[in-house]
Amino acid sequence: MTDLLTLQKSFILEHLKEGDTCADFTMGNGHDTLFLSKTVGARGRVYAFDIQPEALVSTRTRLEGEGAPENYTLINDSHSNLGLYIDGKIKAGMFNLGYLPGSGKKTVTTMRETTIPAVLGAIERLDSHSVLLVAVYPGHAEGDAEGRELEALFERISRFALSVMKVKIINSPTSPYFFVLETGKKSIEEFIEANGTIFEK
Ligand SMILES: C[S@@+](CC[C@H](N)C(=O)[O-])C[C@H]1O[C@@H](n2cnc3c(N)ncnc32)[C@H](O)[C@@H]1O
Repeated sequence: MTDLLTLQKSFILEHLKEGDTCADFTMGNGHDTLFLSKTVGARGRVYAFDIQPEALVSTRTRLEGEGAPENYTLINDSHSNLGLYIDGKIKAGMFNLGYLPGSGKKTVTTMRETTIPAVLGAIERLDSHSVLLVAVYPGHAEGDAEGRELEALFERISRFALSVMKVKIINSPTSPYFFVLETGKKSIEEFIEANGTIFEK
């Protein structure tokens, strides 16, 4: 059977190359940060965010233990503040929503009020031929609501700005699913310059 994590990575690898800039908006234990760091290599840059200090400790240990290139900036702040840290465009971004696996703190989970502005901020920074991946965990109430609100938002985006795909196992309703947002020839900044907005008018 197809492994969803392998599938997620294949979408990222379509767009992300050595030397690129990218972001892991939900660092957690650093699995995605490590994958991004190794993909962009020493000339690239990875920005990684988490509100929990233990996520930074766990991620740093993983990156150092796995010999990742020193191309990462670990940020102990909410992804909704991404504008304070990321200046230019990104070729790939990942949101793996939910709570820190293995921490036992299921109350510290991503929340719509910060997830939505963070996802919109990430979209604004997407370069041409870039990708944003948003994985949703509908098995808990906030995760389910987060997924529904994101889908309602994505449905309003012009298909000329972004292609938005949903990958879901339809006979397993509580299993994680993900959205893949891809730009074409224009970066989102260029699209907004030409059209004023990314949303359908
Ligand atoms: C499902 S985990 C991420 C798993 C991670 N990608 C990995 O490879 O281990 C979600 C993470 O999002 C973090 N988080 C929750 N709210 C956040 C926010 N506003 N900004 C950044 N991170 C947040 C949680 O602390 C948690 O570590």
